Amino acid sequence: MIMIYFSGTGNSKYIAELFCRNMSCNCYSIEERVDFEQLISSEEIIGFCYPIYGSRVPRIMREFSIQYMEAFKDKKIIIFCTQYIFSGDGARAFIDIFPKKYLNVIYAEHFFMPNNVCNLFILPLANDNKIQKYIKKSEQKIILICNNITSGIVKKRGFNVISKILGLFQGVFIYAIERKALNSVFINNDCIKCSLCVSICPMNNFEINNGKIAQKSNCTICYRCINKCPTKAISVFFNGKVKKQYKGINEIT
Ligand SMILES: Cc1cc2nc3c(=O)[nH]c(=O)nc-3n(C[C@H](O)[C@H](O)[C@H](O)COP(=O)(O)O)c2cc1C
Ligand code: SF4
Ligand code: SF4
Repeated sequence: MIMIYFSGTGNSKYIAELFCRNMSCNCYSIEERVDFEQLISSEEIIGFCYPIYGSRVPRIMREFSIQYMEAFKDKKIIIFCTQYIFSGDGARAFIDIFPKKYLNVIYAEHFFMPNNVCNLFILPLANDNKIQKYIKKSEQKIILICNNITSGIVKKRGFNVISKILGLFQGVFIYAIERKALNSVFINNDCIKCSLCVSICPMNNFEINNGKIAQKSNCTICYRCINKCPTKAISVFFNGKVKKQYKGINEIT
C-alpha cells in the first residue's frame, strides 16, 4: 500500500503521514519527482489524501489523477479528504474525476482540520490550543480507520445520496471560483522580492519579471503562498492585507 497526497498548507500532508506511520507504508506528495506510474503499478492498495475546496477536489489533484488514471485501474482505493467545516461528499468527489465505476473504493473518510483561508474574516483561524484538539481527534480517528481497514471493514463517507446532494449544493460555484482564481492573486507593496512564493507554489504560478513578481494564470487556490509570505504581501480574490497567517499543523507538532 502507498498513499499519495496533495496538501496546500500541511493539513492533508499531516493526515497522510499519520496514516502511513500507523500502517507502515510509504507516503508521496504529488509534487515529488517520482515515477508514479512505476510506483502505483507495484502496489495493491493506493490511498489518496487532499483538501476539499467547496466540495470539489483541487484542480492540481484532478490533473494528477487524470494523468495516471490508467494506473489506478484494478487497484483498491482509499480516499481521505480534509476539510474545515463541511464538504457533504468531499471524499466521494474524487470518483467524479474518473469514468463511472472505474475505481474500486474500499474506504473513504473526512477529517476535520484547521481553516487555512486566512483572508476571509468570517472564517477565523484556530489558535494553538484548538489545533492541538484537531490533532488529538485525528490521531484517534486514524487508529480506528487503520483497525477497520486491517479488518476488511468497508466504509465510504460521503457516498450516500444526501451527502451527494449537499455536495452538489455546496460545489455549485467552485468551478467559477476556480476560473476566477487563475488570475486573482494580488501582491502588494510590502513584497520584499525574496522569491519564496516563486519556489513554493505547486503550480509554478509565479515568475520574476523585470524585478517584479508576476503571476502566470495558473493558481489552484491552495493558499500556500498567502500563508507563507514573510511580509504577508500576497492575497487571493480580495486585495487586502492579510492580518494573520495559518502556520500549519507541523509547526505545532
Ligand atoms: C479554496 C479553498 C476552499 C475551501 N473550501 C472548503 C469547504 O468547502 N469546506 C470546508 O470544510 N473547508 C474548506 N476549505 C478548508 C480546507 O479544505 C481545509 O483547511 C484543509 O484541511 C486544508 O488542507 P491543506 O492544509 O492540506 O491544504 C477550503 C480551503 C480552500 C483553500
Ligand atoms: S513571498 Fe512575499 S515577499 Fe517574497 S517575493 Fe513573494 S510576495 Fe514578495
Ligand atoms: S499562487 Fe499561491 S495560492 Fe495559488 S497555487 Fe500558487 S501557492 Fe497556491
